[in-house]
Amino acid sequence: MPAATRVSLLVPLTLNNMPTLATTVDGLKLPNPFVIGSGPPGTNLNVINKAFKEGWGAVIAKTVSLEAGKVVNVTPRYAKLYAGDGKEVIGWENIELISDRKFSIWLEEFKKIKDAYPEGILIASIMEEFSKDAWVEIVERCQDAGVDAFECNFSCPHGLPERKMGAAMGQVPEILSEVCGWVMSAAKKPVWAKMTPNVTRIQDLSRAALRAGCQGLAAINTIRSVMGVNLDTLRPEPTVEGFTTPGGYSSKAVKPIALRMVMEIATMIRSEFPGRSLSGIGGLESGGDAAQFILLGSDTVQVCTGVMKFGYGCVKQMCNELLQFMEKHKFETLADFKGRSSITSLRMRSWCACRPSARQRKPRPQSKSSW
Ligand SMILES: Cc1cc2nc3c(=O)[nH]c(=O)nc-3n(C[C@H](O)[C@H](O)[C@H](O)COP(=O)(O)O)c2cc1C
Repeated sequence: MPAATRVSLLVPLTLNNMPTLATTVDGLKLPNPFVIGSGPPGTNLNVINKAFKEGWGAVIAKTVSLEAGKVVNVTPRYAKLYAGDGKEVIGWENIELISDRKFSIWLEEFKKIKDAYPEGILIASIMEEFSKDAWVEIVERCQDAGVDAFECNFSCPHGLPERKMGAAMGQVPEILSEVCGWVMSAAKKPVWAKMTPNVTRIQDLSRAALRAGCQGLAAINTIRSVMGVNLDTLRPEPTVEGFTTPGGYSSKAVKPIALRMVMEIATMIRSEFPGRSLSGIGGLESGGDAAQFILLGSDTVQVCTGVMKFGYGCVKQMCNELLQFMEKHKFETLADFKGRSSITSLRMRSWCACRPSARQRKPRPQSKSSW
């Protein structure tokens, strides 16, 4: 975000009926809808406390599992795509796994964070193998440590497929449904299932999680990708000792895909599971981006790579921008505009289908090279 834009948007609001960003989702009271997405920005006690201090609405910690010893993170694990100016990062690939920090240390830190910020909404992101005992244990121990909610990571594209974890689990509706059932049998706190975009129809997997009883969904995790091939070394990026693997793509470039998937999930929730929640994720960097996710049906929004690019303080700017948007349209609460544009898009579709001019228009002649 250019500095000039940041400053000009910080104009104080002058409304009689001031809009509010405060929202309650699945019983969780958030001061604003901006949530730290699971990843490096929520990787330990210090940074999570910093996020609460800066005013984030909630924090989702880096994904944890019972046996951190099985997780080996490599370096380098990021590769970036720059805009034409060679400076702005618009795409970000990572081959980072879930947390490699001991589960017992995480539990201590969850307790300390809740002691320091009792009102702060702390969400544990959890991932385990296909074992009922393991999922029940991780849920019970995290909730004993005081977390406010869970996000089940069914969506890491590169992490631990050999253990059938992450997206390997989240791409099969029957397995996803069974695991969500195990989690729900133990959870006394709200549960969100985090969905992978690396499927043909995200609604089918989302439906499986909601049928099993999850209170909400979060979408999207990263998109499976190869950032590029280094033309000097002839190795794909990022390369670790000459080897690589496809990773997960995030940042600004994924926003259009994330918005499409959020719209599809929200439409399904509205017709089949009214009242369930949705946390929109993917390339968010501004209050305007957040407004778009909410207009398409999100209750909250998550930011991960944006925090890595701009720092924790960016939440203040995002809140201001979202308030400016609400003031402009005379929306007083997030509920006043949640899902509004999704409804428009449905109407558009049926309107197009009915329009005689659209139906009768002759197709353009195809160029010879097209297929
Ligand atoms: C370096 C990195 C590590 C991540 N680690 C996790 C993780 O541990 N668990 C998880 O559910 N998502 C993880 N994510 C995915 C993000 O939470 C988010 O879904 C995705 O990056 C898209 O949002 P963004 O464009 O705001 O980053 C990670 C993303 C990045 C960039």
